Amino acid sequence: MACFLTFITTLYSFLIIFSTSLNTISGAFIEESSEAIAIKREEKMSQSHLHFFFHDILSGKHPSAVRIAGPPESTFDNFGNTMMIDDALTEGPEPTSKLVGRAQGFYSMAAQNDVALLMVMNFAFVEDKYNGSSISMLGRNSVLDDVREMPIVGGSGLFRNARGYAMAHTNLVDPNTGDAIVEYDVYVSNFELGAGLAI
Ligand SMILES: *[C@@H]1O[C@H](CO)[C@@H](O)[C@H](O)[C@H]1NC(C)=O
Repeated sequence: MACFLTFITTLYSFLIIFSTSLNTISGAFIEESSEAIAIKREEKMSQSHLHFFFHDILSGKHPSAVRIAGPPESTFDNFGNTMMIDDALTEGPEPTSKLVGRAQGFYSMAAQNDVALLMVMNFAFVEDKYNGSSISMLGRNSVLDDVREMPIVGGSGLFRNARGYAMAHTNLVDPNTGDAIVEYDVYVSNFELGAGLAI
């Protein structure tokens, strides 16, 4: 198993019984009746902790973050400034470290009197069995804070129905270029429903 990810799966089997007595009121304006049914349902819950480094590269010939909208002549922290990204996600902090996925989406400066980004992106993984699976994040990134928490709002593939949160901590920023390396810890759980089985 890749060390960027720890994964726990638990099977839950439970019985949901909908049961009410047959209830008939004759002569009343309403007649109600119900039948008792029992449904056995199985749910598989997986919990994952992902740890990776996000490389936001604005400089050079092949930047992974490009400005797509915002006020003319704006700098990074101008309100409205929007960057489209296709940032490498790696196992370790070095840019040469093993690629585990890419962060694809955008971020915008969404605060007028603060340095806070709106983050809208998918983490698309390429590692082992997670290749093709993704996690979607939508949140507020107050970039000057040491640790920022952002919601995980969904996922696909092995992360279908994912819910959870990401904790981001800036590892390194180049003050001249704005290039940044950010460490992410992502905690998600997701349920897979088994077929309902009437018993
Ligand atoms: C991930 O899947 C794609 C498409 O199925 C494939 O081309 C690629 O080689 C895979 N990557 C890895 C790292 O296994």
